Amino acid sequence: MSPEKLVELALEAMTHSYSPYSGFKVGAALLCADGTVYQGCNIENAAYGPTNCAERTAFFKAVYDGQRDFVAIAVCGGKDGVITGGFPPCGVCRQVMREFCGDDFVIYMVDAEGYEAHTLAEILPFSFSAQKHMN
Ligand code: THU
Repeated sequence: MSPEKLVELALEAMTHSYSPYSGFKVGAALLCADGTVYQGCNIENAAYGPTNCAERTAFFKAVYDGQRDFVAIAVCGGKDGVITGGFPPCGVCRQVMREFCGDDFVIYMVDAEGYEAHTLAEILPFSFSAQKHMN
């Protein structure tokens, strides 16, 4: 699947955002090795802390379905759904990615012009993982 198609699915996912507190709508589209794509959106909460980011929504849906092998994720978002600059996934989401993904997992950060691609190794260097530290 092309990055452009994955970006399109992230943009569609953003329309599902439940973000009445921040007004910051986020969408994600996670590509599995078998070609399946899982979409996610941010889901906020009045207590703030329980908020789930779009990336984790996509990962948790996929893992529940038995997926363990991931290729890439496209992430987009902006205030009221208007995309200006791209933004990197939060630290919690990066650690969730680390749980299931290798260094070469790709993150497409969507901006007004297109997207910027970075690997997980680039955005989460020197990280703790079961594969590297618990065996
Ligand atoms: N958010 C995401 O969904 N993904 C990120 O990587 C960064 C932040 C959400 C959480 C919250 O609903 C809103 O964006 C503002 O922080």
